[in-house]
Amino acid sequence: MDEGKEMFLIKEGNELRGEIEVYGAKNAALKIFAASILFNEPIIVKNVPEIEDIARCKELLEFMGGRVQNTGKREYKISSNLINSSILEPKISKSMRSSIVFTGPMLAKFDKVEFPHPGGCVIGERPIDVFLEGFEKLGAKITIQQNGYILEAKKLRGAKIIFKKISVTATETLMMAAALAEGKTILYNSALEPEIPALADFLNSCGAKIKGAGTYKIEITGVKNLKFKNPYVIIPDRIEAGSFAILAAILGKEIKITRCEPNHLLVFLEYLKYVGAEIEKGKNFLKISSPKKLKSIDVKTREYPGFPTDLQAPFVALLTQAEGKSIVTETIFEGRLNYIEDLNRMGAKIMPCDPRRIIIEGKTDLRGKEMESPDLRAGLAFVLAALCAKGESIIHGVYKIDRGYEKIEKRLQKLGADIERIKS
Ligand code: EPZ
Repeated sequence: MDEGKEMFLIKEGNELRGEIEVYGAKNAALKIFAASILFNEPIIVKNVPEIEDIARCKELLEFMGGRVQNTGKREYKISSNLINSSILEPKISKSMRSSIVFTGPMLAKFDKVEFPHPGGCVIGERPIDVFLEGFEKLGAKITIQQNGYILEAKKLRGAKIIFKKISVTATETLMMAAALAEGKTILYNSALEPEIPALADFLNSCGAKIKGAGTYKIEITGVKNLKFKNPYVIIPDRIEAGSFAILAAILGKEIKITRCEPNHLLVFLEYLKYVGAEIEKGKNFLKISSPKKLKSIDVKTREYPGFPTDLQAPFVALLTQAEGKSIVTETIFEGRLNYIEDLNRMGAKIMPCDPRRIIIEGKTDLRGKEMESPDLRAGLAFVLAALCAKGESIIHGVYKIDRGYEKIEKRLQKLGADIERIKS
């Protein structure tokens, strides 16, 4: 992975028009790659986004002896039945927090897994206490080493697990571990994100017995093994769709966002409507135009179905262009407001109130600047801000944006955006 060698050169955006297609959800695809470990035969997955994090999942599985073949456009055959090691490659696992999801299926299938602390990242400490408490309840022995953990369990036994915090990946990881455990597991205070029922539906289609995914209480009755049946099609990426909707609300003229699932964005769309965007909602598309004036609004990020934390930074870019004062509160990750200085250097008026709250005064005229993406979603916020700024912007650390948005510059160019990928 050649991080940081490329950058985006962005010039002031004219009005953007046209269609943009939403690809498969990063946060669904990563979990299916992990779920492949539960099987005794290869699985086929479709509508997989061609993004860096998927490349890392492929590397993780192949490091352990698995095989991942690209069998068509956005289609993969994943043969994790060939895995012959129980060590998650440390460098990749540390660079990608979501690698933690592989521990559940590894423990269920191979009775052992060794992995590094997935590491904090720019958006927060990212502890794994909720995972470890769950694994302990399922009967795993946890050995804490200097730079990581070893989980061992001859056989996982079903248990009642009450999550002290709502955690998307902890819900998914323990749901997968419980799928092959002995007896019944209850996951209480589970996350509700749509990627979770999508994962459960896939596993159930292969013989798992999971009820209640998508609600706060999930019941899993362990089975001996799973049988792969039909290729699994990854659900549309709601965060990609939301990111494009924000772009359209800032600069768009009837931008059509296709192959998306508007029902995964209902609360977010209420905010977009409130700030004045013109929105037409179809079964699998959104058509959005920017209003003459954008209105300010207070936002608090919440677990699903509330306003998604992954859309907070892109939405702040929009709020710098809205008339009036907006208060944004980030309730999920303590480090997720770390990007505002760069927007202020562009001319935004964003005042930090406390580590989780900012006040934005709009509308401000932005001027192009040279910046570095601190993380995937703030990186996208910089792209949006640069497109509505006067002059030229350079955004470094494009690798981070490529982690979650496939060929983003090509897709924005098709809408008329003046954005180019250049080698630094
Ligand atoms: C998932 O992260 C997503 N990642 C994130 O998307 C998303 O922002 C997040 O859910 C919230 O919706 C993937 O699905 C791969 P959490 P996850 O565990 O599961 C605390 C993106 O940009 N916590 O729900 O890691 C944690 O620190 C990424 O696509 C503990 O304290 O998030 C946070 O404050 C970013 N202990 C809160 O819970 C634990 O053991 C919610 O985190 C686990 C989590």
